[in-house]
Amino acid sequence: AGGAPGPGVRRGPAYDSAFLRACRREPVPHTPVWFMRQAGRSLPEYRQVREGIAMLDSCMRPDLVTEITLQPVRRHRVDAAIFFSDIVVPLKAIGLDLDIRPGVGPVVAEPIRSRADLERLRPLEPDDVHYVTEAVGLLTAELGTTPLIGFAGAPFTLASYLIEGGPSRNHERTKALMYGDPDLWRDLLDRLAGITATFLRVQIAAGASAVQLFDSWAGALAPQDYRRSVLPASTKVFDAVAGLGVPRIHFGVGTGELLHLMGQAGADVVGVDWRVPLDEAARRIGPGRAVQGNLDPAVLFAPHQVVQAKASEVLLAAKATEGHVFNLGHGVLPTTDPDALTRLVDFVHTTSQA
Ligand code: CP3
Repeated sequence: AGGAPGPGVRRGPAYDSAFLRACRREPVPHTPVWFMRQAGRSLPEYRQVREGIAMLDSCMRPDLVTEITLQPVRRHRVDAAIFFSDIVVPLKAIGLDLDIRPGVGPVVAEPIRSRADLERLRPLEPDDVHYVTEAVGLLTAELGTTPLIGFAGAPFTLASYLIEGGPSRNHERTKALMYGDPDLWRDLLDRLAGITATFLRVQIAAGASAVQLFDSWAGALAPQDYRRSVLPASTKVFDAVAGLGVPRIHFGVGTGELLHLMGQAGADVVGVDWRVPLDEAARRIGPGRAVQGNLDPAVLFAPHQVVQAKASEVLLAAKATEGHVFNLGHGVLPTTDPDALTRLVDFVHTTSQA
């Protein structure tokens, strides 16, 4: 099966990998698996190389980015690498004063709240993130047939950090601006869509095999608000990376009521958190798209037999989908036992082969 790649399907060394085949909804030798936040604090080798180096500084060092991206591939034998960076890296690169505080997340010195503030959001030029181009080049050379996933933050999730000034439970200032000044909101999201599109295109041009758009906090929105106030900007991002021959993944948390719209934005693969079983998710998303997910990351703290039983449930529900990439329903929690992840990768591979 498989056949010749269609127009605009990129035939790199990873073309026949289980991950890219599943994204294209083709038959696979085993269910591919990778984990959001697979590189990071759960790994002792990560904590060691990051010691004394600030998060955002590490993202600007191609040698470190390469090493950290490869760590979970070596250790867990996952089917894809995800580029080590952060969703706020392109915002830092256009000169915004922001930092990532350990245990907190991104913090913005001067939040964006008025039309005058918009001027600080200039377009991203590829050269602003030359270190990303360099690191992706180093990585694809090392990875061979293992695909590299590039990523970016979606306009809504980035807007929330910029408007709130940091992580937020209720996104109240964000919603106040969205409802109270729709023109400013639209222009803000449009600028962010442009920055995000450039950031993804840089990673694709340098050799990334797929891209994931993280709209982590979109689940805070009702469907009608998502459709009116967020979907146009996310669609602009997906349109900007269409036809480049790389699958596009769209992910958010708590998005059960948004899955159909998130597919409509232009994704080839829709990421699902653990709250909606994958068969039901595929029904909501509709035909022509693969799904990614969706084991609860907290299940990894239970005994291994429980992890296996829960992973089996995910694999069973996925039989009713057109294509499945196994993942967690959100990122690896920092105190997760890395051995539990390695065992889970083995289990998914062997069980899905049988
Ligand atoms: O392995 C991977 O998944 C690739 C690396 C990656 C990071 N951030 C590295 C990181 C990815 C894909 C991200 C995306 C990201 N960053 C998202 C979307 C994904 C999601 O989880 O919903 C969001 C919302 C952010 C913003 C952000 N950056 C948060 C909330 C945090 C955690 C703060 C903390 O300390 O708890 C960060 C920091 C961050 N990004 C770390 C890592 C490994 C931890 C920093 C450290 O190790 O010191």
